[in-house]
Amino acid sequence: MASEKFNFGFLIFFLCYGILISTQCLGNICVPKEHVALFVFGDSFFDVGNNNYINTTTDLLANYPPYGETFFKYPSGRFSDGRVIPDFIAEYAKLPLIQPYLFPGSQLYINGVNFASAGAGALVETHQGLVTDLKTQLTYLKNVKKVLRQRLGDEETTTLLAKAVYLINIGGNDYFVENSSLYTHEKYVSMVVGNLTTVIKRIHEIGGRKFGILNQPSFGCFPIIKALVNGTKSGSCIEEYSALAKVHNTKLSVELHNLTKQIKGFKYSYFDLYHLSFEVISNPSKFGLKEGGVACCGSGPYNGYHSCGGKREVKDYDLCDNPSEYLLFDSTHPTEAGSRIISQYMWSGNQTITGPYNLKTLFEE
Ligand SMILES: *[C@@H]1O[C@H](CO)[C@@H](O)[C@H](O)[C@H]1NC(C)=O
Ligand SMILES: *[C@@H]1O[C@H](CO)[C@@H](O)[C@H](O)[C@H]1NC(C)=O
Ligand SMILES: *[C@@H]1O[C@H](CO)[C@@H](O)[C@H](O)[C@H]1NC(C)=O
Ligand SMILES: *[C@@H]1O[C@H](CO)[C@@H](O)[C@H](O)[C@H]1NC(C)=O
Ligand SMILES: *[C@@H]1O[C@H](CO)[C@@H](O)[C@H](O)[C@H]1NC(C)=O
Ligand SMILES: *[C@@H]1O[C@H](CO)[C@@H](O)[C@H](O)[C@H]1NC(C)=O
Repeated sequence: MASEKFNFGFLIFFLCYGILISTQCLGNICVPKEHVALFVFGDSFFDVGNNNYINTTTDLLANYPPYGETFFKYPSGRFSDGRVIPDFIAEYAKLPLIQPYLFPGSQLYINGVNFASAGAGALVETHQGLVTDLKTQLTYLKNVKKVLRQRLGDEETTTLLAKAVYLINIGGNDYFVENSSLYTHEKYVSMVVGNLTTVIKRIHEIGGRKFGILNQPSFGCFPIIKALVNGTKSGSCIEEYSALAKVHNTKLSVELHNLTKQIKGFKYSYFDLYHLSFEVISNPSKFGLKEGGVACCGSGPYNGYHSCGGKREVKDYDLCDNPSEYLLFDSTHPTEAGSRIISQYMWSGNQTITGPYNLKTLFEE
């Protein structure tokens, strides 16, 4: 009998010890030891509702049906029928959904937070006054650091920020504002990429080390562009509208590589969204989809008019029966199915699509 009791106590001891070594406590909040936070910067690809809380236009809002119809069953502000890329990345990293920074009320930030704002660019002039531009998103990270230091102390805050992954998608909006035509491609791209790399350096100064950066997609293949240009009934891509994206992507990959020599401990994952978007649009069935180059929701050719929901300039719109068969929900933004495909490649794709690291390695390092 005595030995049975002893064994029982021994078991309890090991159970408690196991919990102790596999968790860490930040202030009075305990999380798994491998816990890695996710901070999100960017535009409508990543916005999870921040624009709902700023003064903006319906063009830059998705807080009305049919947005959100499949997964959340309400329009959360995501430009999708369901989840967007940061939601999937959080799931793969075993984190809960990452909240929008502007959501009213106090937040913990232990799991990170999302600053992305639909319409935002790397340049402050892009949709100025209607969005949270990238620099302002950076100042929000500084605020978050202050709050974390008050709650966790300096040491734990430093650890949390250094282990965290900073996911950024920005630039697309800069290339579709009128000012972009005032400059040569080279000059304009160097401003956009220059402002993006500056923000990466500032995040590094704040304490960030691990970055996930997407390049620009093949815009010329998107319904919004194909609908704009007449006489493209064949459904092929309009090459010239992808030109800026190509220059951007080349410049961005060079600059990111250069940063590894400039800033200490910098690790990144550069994701080739250009290539993947081109592939899925050209060959949706290879990815388990039925439709690549026509949007589920919208009007006009390819459903390329940005009228999904009927609250913008054009009021009428069509909605497909099954968004999960489509890459794109509206004229520019992926469906939940599309975002899942992209996220899977971001998470565990090989060197041909993402490098030098994929997100899985960044999170597990
Ligand atoms: C919101 O923007 C509109 C138009 O730009 C402006 O008239 C209005 O005063 C703004 N409201 C607030 C609360 O800033
Ligand atoms: C366009 O560029 C000019 C000069 O660089 C700048 O003053 C202005 O704010 C920009 N406007 C927009 C809408 O981007
Ligand atoms: C950042 O963008 C501004 C325009 O908003 C531009 O004047 C400036 O040169 C850019 N910075 C870099 C480092 O390219
Ligand atoms: C393009 O289509 C619009 C509307 O269908 C028409 O008004 C316009 O003249 C066309 N432009 C060209 C260059 O064909
Ligand atoms: C790499 O970084 C250095 C130091 O900032 C800079 O002088 C150089 O122009 C950069 N090279 C490229 C190709 O961007
Ligand atoms: C990378 O993955 C793609 C498919 O996702 C595959 O076709 C390709 O062969 C892989 N390349 C290497 C070097 O493993």
